[in-house]
Amino acid sequence: MTQKKPITVAITGAAGNIAYSLIFRICSGELFGNDQPFNLSLIDIEPALPALEGLVMELQDSNFRLINKTICTTDPFEGFRDADYAILLGSYPRNKNQTRKDLLGKNVSIFKIQGKALSFVAKKTVKVVVVGNPVNTNALVTAKYAENIPKENIVALTRLDMNRSISQLSRKLNKNVSNIKNVFTWGNHSASQFVDLSNGYLLEGSKKTPLTELVEKEWTYGEFQTTNQTRGKAVILKRGRSSAGSAANAVIDLLKSWIYGTETYVSMGVISDNNPYNVPENLIFSFPCTCKNGSWKISKDLKPNDFCKKMIKKNVDELVSERNIAFGLLQD
Ligand code: LMR
Repeated sequence: MTQKKPITVAITGAAGNIAYSLIFRICSGELFGNDQPFNLSLIDIEPALPALEGLVMELQDSNFRLINKTICTTDPFEGFRDADYAILLGSYPRNKNQTRKDLLGKNVSIFKIQGKALSFVAKKTVKVVVVGNPVNTNALVTAKYAENIPKENIVALTRLDMNRSISQLSRKLNKNVSNIKNVFTWGNHSASQFVDLSNGYLLEGSKKTPLTELVEKEWTYGEFQTTNQTRGKAVILKRGRSSAGSAANAVIDLLKSWIYGTETYVSMGVISDNNPYNVPENLIFSFPCTCKNGSWKISKDLKPNDFCKKMIKKNVDELVSERNIAFGLLQD
């Protein structure tokens, strides 16, 4: 059997918490397959370099046979060179008194430089997953400056919101998470997000029961929403820092959907151009998507109800305001 050529996976914030959960799972072969070797390009800021070296020592001690080569760098122009995948975890994290939007000032310039670096040195086919908050707008900034990379290749992580909603439904219905299908979120990864279960169903054998028949309206538009909208903050309050393991898990779920395809809708924060839901162009917005052959598509056949349309509008307004602030700060 001929060996596959190594792919290159670049990760920013590589010495951080999310990375610590993510990298070992990638190295186990879970994401790219047991026969796919890769180069790991680990990027972080100067003060994090000792921690990054410690991580590399642990990777060495794990004898992962799929790792072809590892580099550590503070320079995205070196780190993103020939990247097939770029996972942008690095950003200032929020504390319990901040909203994700409060991080805009500190984070936009990071994503501007990373967008430029991706544009100059990554493969044109690179798949970019943005995780650092405020994730939708950071992804938009990345896309703006990554002029040589198609905007479709840059996706913001809203899969964690979807995963959280499925987990809530599983606990509410006392059913396994794998039986709950077609639930997703619209809009921003923020307290304005709207979880839509109106197309969702419980799958048992070949029987599909609409979720709207199984849960009360009051819960659907009340507690279900607020729990999802505030889950990130609730985790920070308990752990004293942001979600890490569940965020890493959501990155893996998102990339598996994007690379290998989906049978049901999944939440992806994607460029809003040409959507049928009255979301203006040039926003990164969480839509229900399906994936095939390494590409995603916004599902076009849904009929949002009036409440959902109102929530889509609320998210549009919030994201337009974030975009105005971000682009104002960038000034070019
Ligand atoms: C989350 O949702 O857990 C992350 O976006 C971290 C945060 O700041 O809430």
